[in-house]
Amino acid sequence: MTRDPVILVFDSGLGGLTVFAGIARLRPRADYVYVADDAVFPYGRLEEPVLIARVRAVLEAMIGQAQPDIVVIACNTASTLVLPDLRARWPEIPFVGTVPAVKPAAMQSRTHMISVLATPGTVARDYTRDLIRDYAAHCEVALVGSRRLAPIAEAFMHGEAVDEAEIAREIAPCFVEAQGRRTDHVVLACTHYPLLLPHFERLAPWPVEFVDPAPAIARRVEHVLSERGFAPGDHAAAPRLGAAVFTGGREAEGPLARLLQERSLVQQMAPEIRT
Ligand code: DGL
Repeated sequence: MTRDPVILVFDSGLGGLTVFAGIARLRPRADYVYVADDAVFPYGRLEEPVLIARVRAVLEAMIGQAQPDIVVIACNTASTLVLPDLRARWPEIPFVGTVPAVKPAAMQSRTHMISVLATPGTVARDYTRDLIRDYAAHCEVALVGSRRLAPIAEAFMHGEAVDEAEIAREIAPCFVEAQGRRTDHVVLACTHYPLLLPHFERLAPWPVEFVDPAPAIARRVEHVLSERGFAPGDHAAAPRLGAAVFTGGREAEGPLARLLQERSLVQQMAPEIRT
């Protein structure tokens, strides 16, 4: 295939930009559409049937408009729930999800004490518990649900000041010490959290490896595109301007406007979403 792919990256808000950055690093030249469903942010608090219906409705509008070659669900809270529904609705489109990186963390941990930091939605999912059972049976796993971190990250990207004491309180349960061993890996199981990584590193009571799944997701996207006949991404190519769609209709300003510019994304109006 000689044309560039259309790649739709979806999240409840700005967290998916951490995944988008990983994908665009490997393949700067593509037709990117970034969709943030910030009209109902945060997803972490939504009941499961409500979330399934909402993601379906937003993608119904966006897929119709963008005609993507691949859709990346850059949201753990959604991916751990909605992928079977989306694959059934659009069997011709490949969907790449973002699920907690329990497997690499459990493999790399020396102390066999890992933590999974996520939204309350992701923490409650059977999917997450199955991952821990299947890949981390040899580890002690602290599953930590935070209500506040995704909204803090979102506000931070909109230029608001962050309360470091609050962040420290939210991440504290990830750091466990028992019988001379302590946590050495913390899985960032919400795509918003890498936006706060410098704060996490500064506030951690001891150094740990914070596991960001973005590079692995980017490699997976490349693999799926090559299976679909697209030439490998050229990481040295000049980016083309992509679209950023915010369902909440808020205009990007301050750090967000700068970030979009750095990522070659231009804000576009959201289509009508029928829920
Ligand atoms: N960025 C999303 C995730 O990866 C969730 C944030 C939210 O609660 O909407 O889980």
